[in-house]
Amino acid sequence: MVFTFYVSLLFLSLYILGLALRRIFFLRDRARMEQGDRPGGRVIARADEMGPGSVRKFWLICEKNRVNGFLINHQGNFHAYVNRCRHMETPLDFVRYQFFTEDGRHLICLTHGAIYDPSSGLCVEGPCKGLSLYRLPVLIDQGEVLVACPSGDLSHLSD
Ligand code: FES
Repeated sequence: MVFTFYVSLLFLSLYILGLALRRIFFLRDRARMEQGDRPGGRVIARADEMGPGSVRKFWLICEKNRVNGFLINHQGNFHAYVNRCRHMETPLDFVRYQFFTEDGRHLICLTHGAIYDPSSGLCVEGPCKGLSLYRLPVLIDQGEVLVACPSGDLSHLSD
């Protein structure tokens, strides 16, 4: 009985500690983003450093949500999406830092193999066929690629 009580107390303490750390990291990231933010969004990369086929992962603080995303250069055009498969709420690169299929023509979720069109984010094959990745607004300004938070209800974007 006493043992169970102490084990429960330990797990409760770890849970509260986890919540506190999550809040601390969120506030730190929000402060960082406010410093580095400029009209049009957050600078993710220099455009000339990301050739076709490149991927850059990033995060944004959108209101009270921390959003993990990825920026791609597909055939010379930049697109940014929330890094979350539409089949289940896992990152596309769940296994390793890989977003493109081997031939570079599509995005792939490595968990169950969903295939996405890089230009539209539409799932064209796999368990989420017909659904689209959540797109994030991209702006090229002064040779840099900026990504912004989308407008509207963002609660579905949170981790
Ligand atoms: S979680 Fe992405 S295909 Fe299943």
